[in-house]
Amino acid sequence: MTRSMASALLAIFFSGAAISASESLPSADAGTAHESVDPASVPDVLVRRNGTVLPRVSGAAEDYARHCQGCHGHLGDSVVEVPRLKGRVGLFTHSAEGRAYIVQVPNVLQAHLSDARLAALLNWMLREYSGAELPGAFMPYTEAEVALARTHRLGSVIDRRREVIDGLVRLGVVTSPELFTFATDPARY
Ligand code: HEC
Repeated sequence: MTRSMASALLAIFFSGAAISASESLPSADAGTAHESVDPASVPDVLVRRNGTVLPRVSGAAEDYARHCQGCHGHLGDSVVEVPRLKGRVGLFTHSAEGRAYIVQVPNVLQAHLSDARLAALLNWMLREYSGAELPGAFMPYTEAEVALARTHRLGSVIDRRREVIDGLVRLGVVTSPELFTFATDPARY
Protein backbone atom coordinates (compact mmCIF):
# COMPACT_ATOMS: atom_id res chain seq x y z
CA MET A 1 0.00 0.00 0.00
CA THR A 2 1.38 3.43 -0.89
CA ARG A 3 1.78 6.13 1.69
CA SER A 4 -0.94 8.31 0.20
CA MET A 5 -3.39 5.40 0.15
CA ALA A 6 -2.63 4.71 3.79
CA SER A 7 -3.23 8.32 4.81
CA ALA A 8 -6.44 8.47 2.76
CA LEU A 9 -7.70 5.38 4.58
CA LEU A 10 -6.71 6.86 7.91
CA ALA A 11 -8.54 10.07 7.05
CA ILE A 12 -11.68 8.04 6.25
CA PHE A 13 -11.32 6.11 9.49
CA PHE A 14 -10.92 9.25 11.61
CA SER A 15 -13.73 11.19 9.97
CA GLY A 16 -15.98 8.15 10.49
CA ALA A 17 -14.97 7.99 14.15
CA ALA A 18 -15.65 11.69 14.59
CA ILE A 19 -19.12 11.36 13.10
CA SER A 20 -20.14 8.41 15.23
CA ALA A 21 -18.79 10.10 18.39
CA SER A 22 -20.77 13.26 17.74
CA GLU A 23 -23.87 11.23 17.02
CA SER A 24 -23.70 9.22 20.21
CA LEU A 25 -22.90 12.11 22.56
CA PRO A 26 -25.67 14.46 23.65
CA SER A 27 -25.13 18.01 22.42
CA ALA A 28 -23.70 20.29 25.10
CA ASP A 29 -26.39 22.87 24.55
CA ALA A 30 -29.37 20.58 24.41
CA GLY A 31 -31.35 21.45 27.60
CA THR A 32 -31.10 19.29 30.69
CA ALA A 33 -33.28 16.42 29.51
CA HIS A 34 -31.12 13.79 27.88
CA GLU A 35 -30.64 10.07 28.02
CA SER A 36 -28.63 8.41 30.76
CA VAL A 37 -25.31 6.72 29.96
CA ASP A 38 -25.10 3.00 29.40
CA PRO A 39 -22.20 2.02 31.73
CA ALA A 40 -21.01 -0.55 29.19
CA SER A 41 -20.38 2.24 26.68
CA VAL A 42 -17.68 3.92 28.80
CA PRO A 43 -15.71 1.05 30.33
CA ASP A 44 -12.57 3.12 30.95
CA VAL A 45 -14.39 5.39 33.38
CA LEU A 46 -16.91 3.05 34.90
CA VAL A 47 -15.12 -0.24 35.27
CA ARG A 48 -11.76 0.14 36.92
CA ARG A 49 -9.03 -2.32 37.72
CA ASN A 50 -10.47 -2.86 41.16
CA GLY A 51 -13.75 -3.90 39.60
CA THR A 52 -15.75 -0.85 40.68
CA VAL A 53 -18.88 -0.57 38.60
CA LEU A 54 -20.51 2.79 39.02
CA PRO A 55 -24.27 3.20 38.93
CA ARG A 56 -26.03 4.73 35.97
CA VAL A 57 -26.32 8.49 36.36
CA SER A 58 -28.27 11.21 34.61
CA GLY A 59 -28.68 15.00 34.59
CA ALA A 60 -25.99 17.02 36.40
CA ALA A 61 -24.41 13.84 37.78
CA GLU A 62 -23.99 12.56 34.24
CA ASP A 63 -22.44 15.85 33.15
CA TYR A 64 -19.98 15.54 36.05
CA ALA A 65 -19.19 11.95 35.05
CA ARG A 66 -18.50 12.92 31.47
CA HIS A 67 -16.65 16.21 32.00
CA CYS A 68 -15.00 16.10 35.43
CA GLN A 69 -14.80 12.61 36.87
CA GLY A 70 -11.74 11.52 34.90
CA CYS A 71 -9.64 13.90 37.01
CA HIS A 72 -11.76 14.48 40.12
CA GLY A 73 -13.10 10.96 40.65
CA HIS A 74 -16.62 9.72 41.33
CA LEU A 75 -16.20 10.44 45.06
CA GLY A 76 -14.61 13.89 44.61
CA ASP A 77 -11.24 12.38 45.56
CA SER A 78 -9.16 13.65 42.67
CA VAL A 79 -6.13 11.95 41.17
CA VAL A 80 -3.13 13.07 43.24
CA GLU A 81 -1.96 15.91 41.00
CA VAL A 82 -5.42 17.51 41.02
CA PRO A 83 -6.96 19.35 44.00
CA ARG A 84 -9.46 17.30 46.00
CA LEU A 85 -13.08 18.43 45.90
CA LYS A 86 -14.39 16.29 48.76
CA GLY A 87 -14.84 18.05 52.09
CA ARG A 88 -13.37 21.31 50.88
CA VAL A 89 -14.62 22.72 47.57
CA GLY A 90 -17.70 24.22 49.30
CA LEU A 91 -15.46 26.56 51.30
CA PHE A 92 -14.76 28.56 48.15
CA THR A 93 -18.41 29.64 48.04
CA HIS A 94 -17.98 31.70 51.24
CA SER A 95 -16.51 34.61 49.25
CA ALA A 96 -17.50 36.30 46.00
CA GLU A 97 -13.96 35.72 44.68
CA GLY A 98 -14.16 32.05 45.57
CA ARG A 99 -17.53 31.64 43.85
CA ALA A 100 -16.08 33.15 40.68
CA TYR A 101 -12.83 31.14 40.98
CA ILE A 102 -14.69 27.82 40.92
CA VAL A 103 -16.27 28.78 37.60
CA GLN A 104 -13.02 30.16 36.21
CA VAL A 105 -10.64 27.22 36.72
CA PRO A 106 -9.81 26.23 33.13
CA ASN A 107 -11.54 22.86 33.00
CA VAL A 108 -14.76 24.38 34.29
CA LEU A 109 -14.69 27.60 32.25
CA GLN A 110 -13.95 25.71 29.04
CA ALA A 111 -16.26 22.73 29.64
CA HIS A 112 -18.45 21.99 26.64
CA LEU A 113 -21.59 22.72 28.60
CA SER A 114 -24.08 25.56 28.44
CA ASP A 115 -24.06 28.08 31.31
CA ALA A 116 -27.31 26.59 32.64
CA ARG A 117 -25.98 23.03 32.65
CA LEU A 118 -22.69 24.13 34.18
CA ALA A 119 -24.59 25.94 36.97
CA ALA A 120 -26.60 22.76 37.65
CA LEU A 121 -23.39 20.68 37.62
CA LEU A 122 -21.64 22.99 40.08
CA ASN A 123 -24.64 23.05 42.44
CA TRP A 124 -24.77 19.25 42.29
CA MET A 125 -21.01 18.93 42.84
CA LEU A 126 -21.02 21.30 45.83
CA ARG A 127 -23.87 19.47 47.59
CA GLU A 128 -22.61 16.00 46.67
CA TYR A 129 -18.97 16.43 47.73
CA SER A 130 -18.96 19.34 50.15
CA GLY A 131 -22.45 19.99 51.52
CA ALA A 132 -21.14 20.33 55.08
CA GLU A 133 -18.79 23.16 54.10
CA LEU A 134 -21.40 25.31 52.34
CA PRO A 135 -22.54 28.51 54.06
CA GLY A 136 -25.89 28.23 55.86
CA ALA A 137 -27.45 30.64 53.38
CA PHE A 138 -25.85 29.08 50.32
CA MET A 139 -27.25 30.59 47.14
CA PRO A 140 -27.08 28.12 44.26
CA TYR A 141 -25.31 29.24 41.08
CA THR A 142 -27.61 30.66 38.44
CA GLU A 143 -27.08 30.59 34.69
CA ALA A 144 -26.45 34.36 34.79
CA GLU A 145 -23.74 34.14 37.47
CA VAL A 146 -21.95 31.38 35.57
CA ALA A 147 -22.24 33.30 32.29
CA LEU A 148 -20.73 36.42 33.86
CA ALA A 149 -17.88 34.59 35.61
CA ARG A 150 -17.08 32.74 32.38
CA THR A 151 -16.31 36.02 30.59
CA HIS A 152 -13.10 36.37 32.63
CA ARG A 153 -10.10 34.11 32.03
CA LEU A 154 -7.59 33.72 34.85
CA GLY A 155 -3.99 34.67 34.13
CA SER A 156 -2.25 32.42 36.65
CA VAL A 157 -4.67 29.88 38.12
CA ILE A 158 -2.33 28.98 40.97
CA ASP A 159 -1.77 32.64 41.95
CA ARG A 160 -5.50 33.32 41.87
CA ARG A 161 -6.16 30.18 43.94
CA ARG A 162 -3.69 31.35 46.57
CA GLU A 163 -5.29 34.84 46.71
CA VAL A 164 -8.75 33.34 47.10
CA ILE A 165 -7.59 30.98 49.86
CA ASP A 166 -5.74 33.81 51.66
CA GLY A 167 -9.00 35.76 51.50
CA LEU A 168 -10.87 32.86 53.13
CA VAL A 169 -8.28 32.78 55.92
CA ARG A 170 -8.72 36.56 56.46
CA LEU A 171 -12.49 36.11 56.59
CA GLY A 172 -12.01 33.40 59.22
CA VAL A 173 -13.79 30.80 57.06
CA VAL A 174 -10.71 28.59 57.32
CA THR A 175 -8.07 28.84 60.01
CA SER A 176 -5.11 27.83 57.86
CA PRO A 177 -4.31 27.47 54.15
CA GLU A 178 -2.96 24.01 55.02
CA LEU A 179 -6.41 22.62 54.32
CA PHE A 180 -5.84 23.40 50.65
CA THR A 181 -2.36 21.96 50.12
CA PHE A 182 -1.71 19.64 47.19
CA ALA A 183 -1.28 15.93 47.94
CA THR A 184 1.87 15.92 45.79
CA ASP A 185 3.43 18.92 47.56
CA PRO A 186 2.25 19.51 51.14
CA ALA A 187 4.13 22.84 51.26
CA ARG A 188 2.13 24.28 48.37
CA TYR A 189 -1.44 25.54 48.30
C1 HEC B 1 -7.97 17.24 32.88
C2 HEC B 1 -8.22 17.12 34.32
C3 HEC B 1 -9.38 17.91 34.88
C4 HEC B 1 -10.70 17.87 34.47
C5 HEC B 1 -11.33 17.07 33.36
C6 HEC B 1 -11.41 18.77 35.37
N1 HEC B 1 -10.56 19.32 36.27
FE1 HEC B 1 -11.04 20.52 37.81
N2 HEC B 1 -9.09 20.82 38.21
C7 HEC B 1 -8.04 20.22 37.57
C8 HEC B 1 -6.79 20.86 37.99
C9 HEC B 1 -5.39 20.48 37.53
C10 HEC B 1 -7.14 21.84 38.90
C11 HEC B 1 -6.19 22.84 39.64
C12 HEC B 1 -6.28 24.18 39.00
C13 HEC B 1 -5.64 24.18 37.66
O1 HEC B 1 -4.41 23.98 37.58
O2 HEC B 1 -6.38 24.32 36.66
C14 HEC B 1 -8.59 21.79 39.03
C15 HEC B 1 -9.31 22.60 39.89
C16 HEC B 1 -10.68 22.51 40.06
C17 HEC B 1 -11.43 23.23 41.07
C18 HEC B 1 -10.85 24.16 42.11
C19 HEC B 1 -10.47 23.35 43.32
C20 HEC B 1 -9.34 23.96 44.12
O3 HEC B 1 -9.08 23.46 45.24
O4 HEC B 1 -8.69 24.89 43.65
C21 HEC B 1 -12.73 22.92 40.91
C22 HEC B 1 -13.91 23.42 41.73
C23 HEC B 1 -12.81 22.00 39.79
N3 HEC B 1 -11.54 21.78 39.31
C24 HEC B 1 -13.97 21.46 39.31
C25 HEC B 1 -14.05 20.78 38.09
C26 HEC B 1 -15.28 20.50 37.40
C27 HEC B 1 -16.67 20.88 37.89
C28 HEC B 1 -14.94 19.85 36.25
C29 HEC B 1 -15.86 19.40 35.14
C30 HEC B 1 -16.63 20.45 34.50
C31 HEC B 1 -13.49 19.71 36.24
N4 HEC B 1 -13.00 20.31 37.36
C32 HEC B 1 -12.77 19.03 35.27
C33 HEC B 1 -8.14 19.17 36.68
C34 HEC B 1 -9.30 18.84 36.00
